[in-house]
Amino acid sequence: MKIQINARNGTHAYAVGSDDRLLYGGLCHGIGLPYECASGTCGTCKAKLVSGEIIDHWPDAPGRKYLKQEGEFLLCQCSAMGDLEIEVARPVNGVPAALPAVMPGRIIRTEKLTHDVMSIWIELPRDIQFEAGQFALVRVPGIDGYRGWSMVNYAPTTNVLEFVIKKKPGGAVSDWLFAAERAGTAVDVFGPIGHATFSADTEHDILCIAGGSGIAGMMSILTRAARDGYFDAHDGDVYFGVRTMRDAFFLDAFCRLREQCGVRLRVTVVFSDETATPAFIDDYPLLAFDHGFVHEAAARGMAGRLQNIRAYLAGPPPAVDASVRLLLQARVSPANIRYDKFS
Ligand code: FES
Repeated sequence: MKIQINARNGTHAYAVGSDDRLLYGGLCHGIGLPYECASGTCGTCKAKLVSGEIIDHWPDAPGRKYLKQEGEFLLCQCSAMGDLEIEVARPVNGVPAALPAVMPGRIIRTEKLTHDVMSIWIELPRDIQFEAGQFALVRVPGIDGYRGWSMVNYAPTTNVLEFVIKKKPGGAVSDWLFAAERAGTAVDVFGPIGHATFSADTEHDILCIAGGSGIAGMMSILTRAARDGYFDAHDGDVYFGVRTMRDAFFLDAFCRLREQCGVRLRVTVVFSDETATPAFIDDYPLLAFDHGFVHEAAARGMAGRLQNIRAYLAGPPPAVDASVRLLLQARVSPANIRYDKFS
């Protein structure tokens, strides 16, 4: 089936199969259709049907609340029933990083990090390349739709992707993962995708503000930065927000990064619901600890040091929104603020 996209900056065409989500098909062909979450929540992939018929695979998708006009739909949740002509209000450019693809994958390992956070590793049939900070969409057996998870690991090429999953109330996939050992399960993977990427040739210092499992993509960025010696010449500040001591994870990984990168990398773990000083902080002399909302801790710690930064933000939408406001008020340009709100 042929898809014609009429965008503000020109016309693009590509072919899809009957089951292919229109967004994923376009990205696979190097057509940079607009998206953020790619999983039905943000509304960024809004498009308007000019002609043809579509199937909406998730009519209750939260991102549908952004659809205001007749004929509008979400490219990431719909497939084609025949040839389509579609209007996209935003400019459509190329896909800057490696082209994404649909691949079969297999969960090869799982490990609980806290009472409600788990690491999982998925093996792919071939090596892929991805940019630090990108994510992949994963579909597990028996549950409709893909979920977007940021890669935790980074390597120039790899056939293993590591993710961090938080158990969400009523979250079908996280309930499935936490209900039994899933190592050995076959899954579908689409990726890599995502714009909140890191490049070691930037002249900026980096600031990472993450809440909970939003730290996943930051770990990939820090791993890449450490590998390239980025902190020999730049500063890095990480503010990692969790509720309480029992929600904290990756502290040993932060210490290893700190040992590798030296004093120009600073990591602060911020407890939002904990007023006592955690007993275990003596075990982590290379890390700093603070209390309150993570964006407020970042504002305190970064006072007077926001001039030359590129910021990476991820976590619950209210925390990301508050961090964006903080940075805009400090006159950080929007081009230097990169974020994911789906974690
Ligand atoms: Fe489709 Fe977010 S990209 S709803």
